[in-house]
Amino acid sequence: MFKSEVYTKRRKELHKKIQNGIALFTGNTEAPMNYPANTYHFRQDSDFLYYFGLDLPGLTGFMDFDSGKDRIFGNDYDMDDIIWMGPQPTVKDLALKCGITDTSTMSKLEETIKDSLSKNRKIHFLPPYRGETKMTLGSLLKENPCQMKTLASTDLIKAVISMRSVKEEIEIDEIEKAGDIAYEMHVTAMKMCKPGVKERDIFGTIEGIALAKGGGTSFPIILSVDGQTLHNHAHDNILKNGRMMVTDAGAETILHYASDITRTTPVGGIFNQQQKDIYEIVLKANTEAIKATRPGLSNRDLHFMACKIIATEMKALGLMKGDVDEAVAAGAHALFMPHGLGHMMGLDVHDMEALGEDFIGYNDEVKRSKQFGTAFLRFALPYKPGHVFTVEPGCYFIPELIGMWKAEGKFKEFINYSKVESYMTIGGIRIEDNVLITEKGHKVLGKPIPKTVSEIEKTCS
Ligand code: GLY
Repeated sequence: MFKSEVYTKRRKELHKKIQNGIALFTGNTEAPMNYPANTYHFRQDSDFLYYFGLDLPGLTGFMDFDSGKDRIFGNDYDMDDIIWMGPQPTVKDLALKCGITDTSTMSKLEETIKDSLSKNRKIHFLPPYRGETKMTLGSLLKENPCQMKTLASTDLIKAVISMRSVKEEIEIDEIEKAGDIAYEMHVTAMKMCKPGVKERDIFGTIEGIALAKGGGTSFPIILSVDGQTLHNHAHDNILKNGRMMVTDAGAETILHYASDITRTTPVGGIFNQQQKDIYEIVLKANTEAIKATRPGLSNRDLHFMACKIIATEMKALGLMKGDVDEAVAAGAHALFMPHGLGHMMGLDVHDMEALGEDFIGYNDEVKRSKQFGTAFLRFALPYKPGHVFTVEPGCYFIPELIGMWKAEGKFKEFINYSKVESYMTIGGIRIEDNVLITEKGHKVLGKPIPKTVSEIEKTCS
């Protein structure tokens, strides 16, 4: 974890933002996989990590906004635990690591909450996303566990988002490290992308790199020649010439900061003309969007800039037709790019998504679009220095979507369906990088990963 002062400073800032009441930060518990003692890999809650930094299960962070005091609730391990787990620090020792001297047992937490409820004190908590946390909060607060998300504190959500959105230097250093691990993962995947190799072999190898060099992957790896399925978690294909492999994969550092990179590689390492045509379009959308990234520009404007590049170039290839501005305004480009340009990234790969996407990326003035494609844009607000984003345009040939729109005659004034059908073997192409917004512009984070046609062909050879 970082030095204790980091967490003390963050909590002090949060105390200034919330006027009264108490806040509960329920750390994650072990989650059973198939029987109680056989648990999933433990992942601490990111908000708990941000304010308390302790990467162990069964702890709750507590802040009293009226008295200005913070406390850690948790139970010390007993001798039975130590026999199986080895020596463990006490809750007191742990709390000191994040600058807190006041600790109590979990049974005292129940008493504290009971007392706060009896005094009608405001109890702030963030929306829980795990069943165990919903049950804990429901039982402490005497509420229906299924209602806990709607009862979460909007004031606390907004205060936390305002802090976590702007990354500190130490956080940026961590994201750089996560990007460096992603470099190893992606270059390895490119080198393995040969006919006859199983997707599963590459998937397992690069997941191993994430585990060997950091804290594992930042999300389940997407790796498939069926890249037209945006979140394809199946790895059952055997690579064949003429296909393209989408690898969307990132690592977490030991401190849980993420990277999230996508590269698309032709099987065998050499692009054919059709692959190159579409690849260059996505590459242009990626590089031009990154070049334009600066404080003040909104992610929605950047998204539409990338969509217009895709539509313009698809028109030049003959896959789209008509007026590009009209086509993009109508949403016709979403046949090829049905997702948003990117998302915030930090302690979560989709940073703070558990707090509610609309609190992060939208506000009273900027509302989420209902249009297919644009509706999936996770963030529409202007960038600020310290924001970290993904820039991830893509072009996909989704047979089911193309078939449906063609049958409906949808956007037939903008889409040349017969030409589109001659590109179906492409599957999908996505190119994604991680970008920090600086005072004057931007910085691409992590060691640069081969991206141009020639760089990829060279790496594969
Ligand atoms: N890279 C996976 C995602 O952004 O959803």
